[in-house]
Amino acid sequence: MTDVDDKPIRLNRYLAQSGVASRRGADTLIAEGRVAINGKVAQPGEQVPAGAKVTVNGAPIKAEQLVYVMLNKPPGVVTTVRDPKGRPTVMQFVDVEEHVVPVGRLDAETTGLLIMTNDGELANALAHPSKGVPKTYRVIVRGVPGQVAVRRLSGGVKLDDGRTLPAEAKVMRVGSGGAELELTIKEGRNRQVRRMCAAVGYPVIELERVQYGPLRLGRLQVGAFRALKPHEVEALRDAVAGA
Ligand code: URA
Repeated sequence: MTDVDDKPIRLNRYLAQSGVASRRGADTLIAEGRVAINGKVAQPGEQVPAGAKVTVNGAPIKAEQLVYVMLNKPPGVVTTVRDPKGRPTVMQFVDVEEHVVPVGRLDAETTGLLIMTNDGELANALAHPSKGVPKTYRVIVRGVPGQVAVRRLSGGVKLDDGRTLPAEAKVMRVGSGGAELELTIKEGRNRQVRRMCAAVGYPVIELERVQYGPLRLGRLQVGAFRALKPHEVEALRDAVAGA
């Protein structure tokens, strides 16, 4: 395993991505001289060239190719690897050999952009609240929110688990009895968009995630998935670097 574009990668990152240890744990293993690259004891900071054989305590690391996909999640599908109630899961829509898992969660009724990957390190970073990765939703609500409601959504709404962080809220279209909003939040609390809209008096009728950090859903059909391009994976990495 190397990176998406077969560039050499730092050994501690390689080990972390392979699930051997956290990056810090990997540094310890390397410092203790327990890691070898192509039969030679590895040094801290070493790079792993494409196709190299890496061992820990003499045992080869079973390296899985890193895979990154985006799914346009259909409604009625749960964001989990296995559902004890037997409902359809997102796993049934992603036909890849590697063991990818969803990054974060969309409610069963929510549609739209869901990233799935076997890169545990990137997945954890993207989902970590401290990174504040922005997520944009197209929201159909009942009723037409006025300026006061839009200001409340963007300024922070008091929910039962605390006030929401500042967000971006815009009314995009107004119809008979409803409106379409675009809402960008940097948190990922349970049913957050639904609760925010309900709290300002405009219950959600339809919810679709159209953007996750730098990635846009674009024209991907509902229920379809596609591999991310190397530059998209890099953009995701940039989105969590140093945040
Ligand atoms: N906010 C929600 O309320 N539901 C989702 O699925 C995602 C964000």
